Amino acid sequence: MKRILVTGSYGQIGTELVGALRKKYGGENVVATGRKKPPAILKKDGPYLQLDVLDTNQLHAMLVDYDIDIMIHNASLLSGTGEKDPQLAYRTNIEGSYNVLEAVRILGLDQVMIPSSIAAFGPSTPRENTPNDVIMRPTTAYGVSKVFIELWGEYYVKRYGMDFRSLRYPGIISSETLPGGGTTDYAVEIFYEALKNKRYTSFLDKGTYLPMMYMPDCLKCTIDLIEADVGRLKHRSFNITAMSFAPEEIAAEIKKHIPEFEISYEPDFRQQIAETWPASLDDSAARQEWGWKPDYDLAAMTKDMLEKLSKKLGVDY
Ligand code: SER
Repeated sequence: MKRILVTGSYGQIGTELVGALRKKYGGENVVATGRKKPPAILKKDGPYLQLDVLDTNQLHAMLVDYDIDIMIHNASLLSGTGEKDPQLAYRTNIEGSYNVLEAVRILGLDQVMIPSSIAAFGPSTPRENTPNDVIMRPTTAYGVSKVFIELWGEYYVKRYGMDFRSLRYPGIISSETLPGGGTTDYAVEIFYEALKNKRYTSFLDKGTYLPMMYMPDCLKCTIDLIEADVGRLKHRSFNITAMSFAPEEIAAEIKKHIPEFEISYEPDFRQQIAETWPASLDDSAARQEWGWKPDYDLAAMTKDMLEKLSKKLGVDY
């Protein structure tokens, strides 16, 4: 059984990914790490350790002490937070990922997965059905860091034969842990506000289409790519998507379950970020090379989100 270490494990994706990995590979084989004190869910079935990937000595020692085979490096500042503090985004996202790739190279780990994002694309990228291989000139600190990760990782594949893999996650919608500081976060916040207050003010404007995915599909594609037969991979960084919608469309879907729900719009600085990203993605490379296929569309995701979140919040609808 391979041993996996996950960074950023108390984040939106990390908390649920650690749970899914522990279920599949056994609690003791999945080491959750982060810089903060862990939520209870991460301490339940396996180890949680404090780790700052900017501290290379600590990183190398932990990978050796816990005999890690696969590293999943999720720790990252998101797009909104990155624009507030680009220098911190550089250190966390670029230096941190460089340290991880170097540790994987020096210690000879079997595999490393570092997520990329739709933010790796930019205003000169074709926005509709964006192909996997296309111009990428992002204009955010976060986006620049993701292009660095993809290219440096792919360089190590070519140069050192490293098994680097990456997914360009779209906006991820989930009920367990809130996202923090992203441009797609509105699509999660809207559910909390719909259940609690029956209204939501969106920081993205009407008509702002972005690619999105529900958490069960995010967990599925992450684990599927980790397990994919490396011999079939022509790419190492993959577009991945499940749906694409604008704020008024998710609001209309929520209204089918909560008829009183109302949405209004007060776009902030994240509107400009969203306008530089794809509206929809072509994920045919992932479909062909490792059999990707999502389970949830907008209607199925909305129904499940409302059911799960209403239970969690103790609110009826
Ligand atoms: N959810 C991310 C963000 O909005 C996109 O990768 O920053």
